Amino acid sequence: MTEDKRSETREGAHVLIDTYGRVATDLRVSLTDRCNLRCTYCMPEEGLQWLAKPDLLTDDEIVRLIDLAVTHLGIEEVRFTGGEPLLRPGLVGIVERVAALEPRPRMSITTNGIGLKRTAAALKQAGLDRVNVSLDTLRPDVFKTLTRRNRHQDVLDGLAAASDAGLTPVKVNSVLMPGLNADEAPDLLAWALEHAYELRFIEQMPLDAQHGWKREGMVTAQDILASLRTRFELTEEGAGERGSAPAERWLVDGGPQRVGVIASVTRPFCAACDRTRLTADGQIRTCLFATEETDLRALLRSGAPDEEIAELWRKAMWGKKAGAGLDDPSFVQPDRPMSAIGG
Ligand code: 5AD
Ligand code: SF4
Repeated sequence: MTEDKRSETREGAHVLIDTYGRVATDLRVSLTDRCNLRCTYCMPEEGLQWLAKPDLLTDDEIVRLIDLAVTHLGIEEVRFTGGEPLLRPGLVGIVERVAALEPRPRMSITTNGIGLKRTAAALKQAGLDRVNVSLDTLRPDVFKTLTRRNRHQDVLDGLAAASDAGLTPVKVNSVLMPGLNADEAPDLLAWALEHAYELRFIEQMPLDAQHGWKREGMVTAQDILASLRTRFELTEEGAGERGSAPAERWLVDGGPQRVGVIASVTRPFCAACDRTRLTADGQIRTCLFATEETDLRALLRSGAPDEEIAELWRKAMWGKKAGAGLDDPSFVQPDRPMSAIGG
């Protein structure tokens, strides 16, 4: 789009602004609540009660909502999540249609990497810009304990395929857990540097379906930095330039390569949040930890025009709470787990 049109959208009254003055320009779209892994911090062994097909937004409905989000609501970036978004049969088609929108949003996907080997080239061709791949360990046996599936090599292959396809910079997200992979931070970083992946550690958040998260048990950003410093020299990059990016970034051994640490629990970034979320069944969530949702699907299926749907979306975001308060003793975990909300 032209510069003029962008500023008009941003400065007009039509953006997703909340009562704290935050403007959401980053839309996370969950394409399915299903997954082919069972990460212990996310899902129970037996999986979850999956959404029924008629409850899921169709490909057409998803594209329509993204279209109105970029034309009426100032959305500039779209990230596809899950569950595992590569399990959505229509994914490549959705990416292709979103890439054709005017204005065209930046587009990335957050995936566990399984299946990327098969789809990376087609996704790039369709217009996807980047991928974020979740990988918590370099040890196949730990991977199996952590995800309850023996797919470590598939993830490594998927990462390589994403790099080869030019879905770069390839970012890798790692969650560390005590007694499992907490000692792997320096190994993961050495490996990421070697492959030119951009590594980010994420503090484990209370989003598991089993509600088993404990503040005492978690590996904090401080722990992670201390562990990395046993092998690398880290210098904080552009202090004060964090902006809305949740990752605080550090130059490794003087740079140019970097490592990120997302301290979602110990240093929440709610004040700079620029996100809005759409679940696979068409609900707007103002936050991962929101306890309320706004049903766009019903309005959409009633035949409402774009402007009316956009207005409901704006109203939902206007009510966005100041912060999640994960460290607060009164914190209540949302009913839906991460896989049903979209990471
Ligand atoms: N805490 C932190 N990160 C989580 N993820 C999934 N569940 C949790 C949790 N409870 C991560 C995944 C993926 C991203 C979408 O969020 O590992 O990288
Ligand atoms: Fe699947 Fe991601 Fe949940 Fe693991 S964390 S089970 S990869 S949705």
